[in-house]
This record gives sequence, structure tokens and C-alpha cells, in this order.
Amino acid sequence: MTPLEIRPMEGAGAEVRYVDLTTITVGDWNQIEAAFANYGLLIFRDQIFTETDHLHFARRWGNINVNRFFTAHSRFPEIALVVKEATDTQNIGSGWHADHSYDREPALGSVLVARELPSSGGDTMFASMYAAFDALSSSTQRALEALHATHSAQRSFGTAAIADGDSYAGRLANADIADAMDDVTHPVVIRHPISGRKALYVNPEFTTGIVGMEENEGLALLNQLYEHCQLPEFVGQCTWEPGTVALWDNRAMWHLARNDYPGERRVMHRVTIEGCALEPAVRPDKADPTLAQRAGRTLAGGLITAAMTGIAEVLEPERIRQDIEIVSEAPEREPLPDLDFGNLPPLD
Ligand code: OGA
Ligand code: MN
Repeated sequence: MTPLEIRPMEGAGAEVRYVDLTTITVGDWNQIEAAFANYGLLIFRDQIFTETDHLHFARRWGNINVNRFFTAHSRFPEIALVVKEATDTQNIGSGWHADHSYDREPALGSVLVARELPSSGGDTMFASMYAAFDALSSSTQRALEALHATHSAQRSFGTAAIADGDSYAGRLANADIADAMDDVTHPVVIRHPISGRKALYVNPEFTTGIVGMEENEGLALLNQLYEHCQLPEFVGQCTWEPGTVALWDNRAMWHLARNDYPGERRVMHRVTIEGCALEPAVRPDKADPTLAQRAGRTLAGGLITAAMTGIAEVLEPERIRQDIEIVSEAPEREPLPDLDFGNLPPLD
């Protein structure tokens, strides 16, 4: 039997071949788990995968989170339908996002299975928020580590969004729930619960602002970050084939569904896996002392308090923006070495 093969993809993620996800050996499972922590996106090819297989595979990673906004599969309510009919013009997930960042305990990951594909197009793009964070200057990293951001489902799934433009009727539901949901806050830079690495945790679809900053200042900062996060060196692409199954890490990756197959139908099945509350990359008691020094640099006007670091930190928006020195010529990334996960807690 050909041994399981894990092939890093260009930009982000890895393709996994020579494994049948319905009958995984312990050895293969260990490799898949480590690769998931390492790459944040695994693309499995040539699977023969029923709905039940889909649910079993997802449950290996944790409990299933039933999505409130997508139409459910008629026989398997834990499977969300991600559909674009031939007559629809809008698709679901067309902007960069991380599933469920609007939840207090955001989803660990999602498993997406191709059920009906257009003749061409309909790829999914992924961007690594590990790589995007790693490529920032250290002063920018430190400034971001002190911040928290707000996230909301309302803009994407609320009544105003659903009524807007051509209809999501029949594809999205429960807009009133999205309207009623409180915004949540998460650290801008998290300590990833599985890998232990630092990752950026803001996204254009669901992040609505920076805690303690004026709305326009927060959005200006976020937009600058978003531009950086989309650089090609952080982005990988999944071209779907019959039998493709994708597993991604919502705490380490953004993704986006391309809408480039007008007049054709595309049907995907998604199962989302429960996650946990996210911890900041730098604990308040371990925060870098330079942050405290910055706090002394109080200038008149436009001061913001970076909440929840435990340090009375005051940053000046202009100063933060200057600190976002974009490293646009990031060096070619070597494939990550295999990590030793012996000391990490089990998947949550
Ligand atoms: C999703 C999603 C991408 C796609 O299911 O969460 O964003 O390509 N899908 O359908
Ligand atoms: Mn999505």
C-alpha cells in the first residue's frame, strides 16, 4: 500500500494523498493531526465520502457546531448546505473570512465536501494567518498583541444583509438571530490552541472594529492589515475535483469562495467543529515591557487604551499605523518542519 503523502501547497496548506478517510489507521491519523496543526489546511483527494462519513470524520476533531444561518441538509441537520444555483448571482463566502469568528467560542475548523461542481472555476482560496503574522515587523507584532477586536454576525447574516441585492432566500436563514447576537471580542493576535503559535485573528467579513479605538481609526488599521494578509505568499488555492474533501483551521486561516462560474450550479456540504475561547498570544503578566514604555508616550489627542492587556497601555493611532511596516518582500517560505506534538494537549 502506498504510504500516506503530505505535500505542502504553494502559499498555504498541504495536500494529503493515499489515505481513505473512512478507514484511517492510527499511524495515518497521527500524521494527519500533526499536519493539520502544521499547515492549517488539508486537502484530501479521491475520497468516496457519504454524508455519514463526513460527519464521522468531523467528529474525530470535536463536537459538531450546527450553523444557524446556512440551510441544513434535509436528512442530516448537522450538515450545512453551501449552494449557488445556476440562477443565483451571489455566492456564499465570497469575502475573506474565518467561519464563526462572531461566536464567543469560535469554531475549531470546518470540513467541506464537494457535491456538485461547475465545469470550471469555483476554487476556494486560503490565507495563512500564521504566515501573515510572522511577516510583520516585531514592533507591529508587539503593538497588535496588545489589542482586541470586535466581531459580529449581523453585517453578513442579519436582516439588512439578507434583504440586500439579489436574494439569499432559501440559502440563508435566521437573520433575526444574527440581528440579536451581541458582538464578541477576541484578541487580535491569538496563541493558537493547538499549535501554540501566534496567529492574527481578525478578518474582513466579521471583524467590526478594534476595542478602544474610534470606529474609523480601527477600520483604517484593520484595512491596512487586511491588505498585508492577502499577499500572494500567504495564499493557497484549492481547485476542487470530485472526491475532494477540505479540512481547514478557522483559527489559523482565512478563506474565500471564488464566484467565477456564472450560470452553473455548485453544491458543497459543510460540517463545522466546535472550538474554544481564544487566548491572547501574550498574557498580560508576560507582556513585553516596551508596551509599558509606550504607555508613557502619551500625546494629546487621539489616544486609545488598548484594553485587556492588564497594562495601562495608551497607544496613539497614528503611531500604530506607522508601525504597520508591511514586509512585502517576504522571503520564500521553506515548508515548515514537522513539529513534535508530544507535549501539546489533545485536540479540544
Ligand atoms: C464555507 C465557505 C467556501 C466555498 O463553507 O464556510 O466559505 O468555496 N465555503 O464554498
Ligand atoms: Mn466559510
